[in-house]
Amino acid sequence: MADEHDTIDALLDEQRTFPPTAAFKEQALVADTSLYDEARRDDEGFWARQAADLVTWHSDWHTICEWELPFSKWFVGGTLNVSENCLDRHVAAGRGETVAFHWEGEPGDTRTITYADLLTEVQQFANVLKGLGVGKGDRVNIYLPMIPEAAVAMLACARIGAPHSVVFGGFSAQSLTDRINDAEAKVLITADGGYRRGEVFPLKPAADEAIADCPTIEHVVVVRRGGNDVDMVAGRDHWYHELMDGASADCPAEPMDSEQLLFLLYTSGTTGKPKGIMHTSGGYLTHVAYTHKYVFDLQPDDVYWCTADVGWITGHSYIVYGPLANGATQVMYEGVPNYPDNDRFWAIIEKYGVTKFYTAPTAIRTFMKWGAKEPAKHDLSSLKVLGTVGEPINPEAWIWYHTNIGGGRCPIVDTWWQTETGGMMISPLPGCTTTKPGSATFPLPGVSAEVVDDEARPVLHGGGYLTLTRPWPGMLRGIWGDPQRYQDTYWSRFEGRYFAGDGCKLDDDGYLWLLGRVDDVMNVSGHRISTAEVESALVSHPSVAEAAVVGANDDTTGQAIIAYVTLRGGLDASIDDLRTHVAHEIGAIAKPKTIYFTPDLPKTRSGKIMRRLLRDVAEGRNLGDTTTLADASVVNELQRRAAEVPTED
Ligand code: PRX
Repeated sequence: MADEHDTIDALLDEQRTFPPTAAFKEQALVADTSLYDEARRDDEGFWARQAADLVTWHSDWHTICEWELPFSKWFVGGTLNVSENCLDRHVAAGRGETVAFHWEGEPGDTRTITYADLLTEVQQFANVLKGLGVGKGDRVNIYLPMIPEAAVAMLACARIGAPHSVVFGGFSAQSLTDRINDAEAKVLITADGGYRRGEVFPLKPAADEAIADCPTIEHVVVVRRGGNDVDMVAGRDHWYHELMDGASADCPAEPMDSEQLLFLLYTSGTTGKPKGIMHTSGGYLTHVAYTHKYVFDLQPDDVYWCTADVGWITGHSYIVYGPLANGATQVMYEGVPNYPDNDRFWAIIEKYGVTKFYTAPTAIRTFMKWGAKEPAKHDLSSLKVLGTVGEPINPEAWIWYHTNIGGGRCPIVDTWWQTETGGMMISPLPGCTTTKPGSATFPLPGVSAEVVDDEARPVLHGGGYLTLTRPWPGMLRGIWGDPQRYQDTYWSRFEGRYFAGDGCKLDDDGYLWLLGRVDDVMNVSGHRISTAEVESALVSHPSVAEAAVVGANDDTTGQAIIAYVTLRGGLDASIDDLRTHVAHEIGAIAKPKTIYFTPDLPKTRSGKIMRRLLRDVAEGRNLGDTTTLADASVVNELQRRAAEVPTED
């Protein structure tokens, strides 16, 4: 873990500490260690109290947690309806006129959607889905821009017990095909297109291309957003607004088992095939409602804004399920942060009086590049808590965020978690934790994390691997269709422990410093992409014989994708051809920043590609020991080329 140690050495130069201010503590939900103390005494009892306080149940559970390693069940025997928890109970409590979403389209159009509005639309759409033959247990795929219909579709699925599988709108047709086929989805919900950087990006054509190879899809529902021309196949494709026109707004919420599958969400692992991560209902909802409430110190007059896309776990847990279960008022924004200008986010915060703001380090580093003059154009005094997620935040970015966005007064919650954990696991509580810039601090109350060395011995000081030692309610229940892969991926490296794939270091005060992935998963702008996935996309190009991909440190995106490609004899392809090909196979987010052509890849004598060397070349480091190489001249040649090849931003 040499690279990670370099990172941590830099991080640990950061000595500043930030205790919560007296003013913040005074109004905070949690200003002392009482939650930690309670959870330490009895973690299952602690989670049960959260489940009882934050979730409404149709019938009580008989067992808090059934744990047969590596499979857990939570609140066993209990029944609930997730959409009822997110909608009906708030309306029944007289909060129907509370705004659920202040939605802002990229071009500047807006919609204000109250909890009563959302409940009506969700019931109608649940009836639409039933009318299309969707029943309990049937999978529904969602491929939408950041429009309110995305939340409506997810909640409508939850209402009728049909697990959804949302695919980020930036993924390609091929990625959508793979995910639909793995889930064997019956219905696809998409849009004509959405707005991005001032232009309409078409989605329906990609959906059409995808479902040409998806035999299980019976119907496609199309939301009109972009206004772009689309082909509609009679009998298969339906406009959302036409179906909704005739739909009844009465669809009573049926009780579902606590362990009813709520959704699948595909994420990258160390092989080329994305994994369908399974999340269920009662435990997941408890976990996301609890963490959203306490980590953001949720208050009744809050306006909360999470800038993630619903296509990622952050959007599922901290736009849809957590905040709506808590009855929060949110901002939802469709587009990019620099349209029409670099101050769009700050304009939105001022316009809606956002109090709690959750974004990613990669975005913060981009804002730093655009300069402090952009936020300075706006009144950001409404802000109270700032959050980050997706990758380690470097102290410079933390301090910039604290100073220029938080006005020096807002606690920062650096939240570590994963698609697999369902909700936040390691994070400060803003009213009680003294933060250090760059550290996610401590496990949340109820969460048990431990750093271990190669032999699974707990590390009390210094670097190692982050593991989770006790089950938690939001944990994944498995990988769709592949229980063995679930066992192998997460539970085989260290016996009895969930291994997260991240390196981590403990400092003298017991603070956790996340060091990034220690496996072959890259983190590009907070998005997980596996090296194997990009390699397999590259070698599917007819001209490519062999490819090796590594993630190299990048000032803005955290890591950047660097590819080394050997072409087939006599065949040709340009860098642009290959980048376009990867975008077509996976999506634009997976396009390599740089591609080096090389007649050979550096391999050990046993034929293993030496990724460490490739990373060193990509990051311009002096090469260490190359004696195990079969042919050392390959690397010298690569280094020469690395000095010449232009990179793509
Ligand atoms: O490496 C960690 C990094 O993101 C990975 C999880 O990615 P994903 O499942 O896509 O979920 C992202 C949103 C929760 C982790 O294994 N990561 C996430 N949050 C942090 C982080 N690394 C350091 N600090 C964080 N706060």
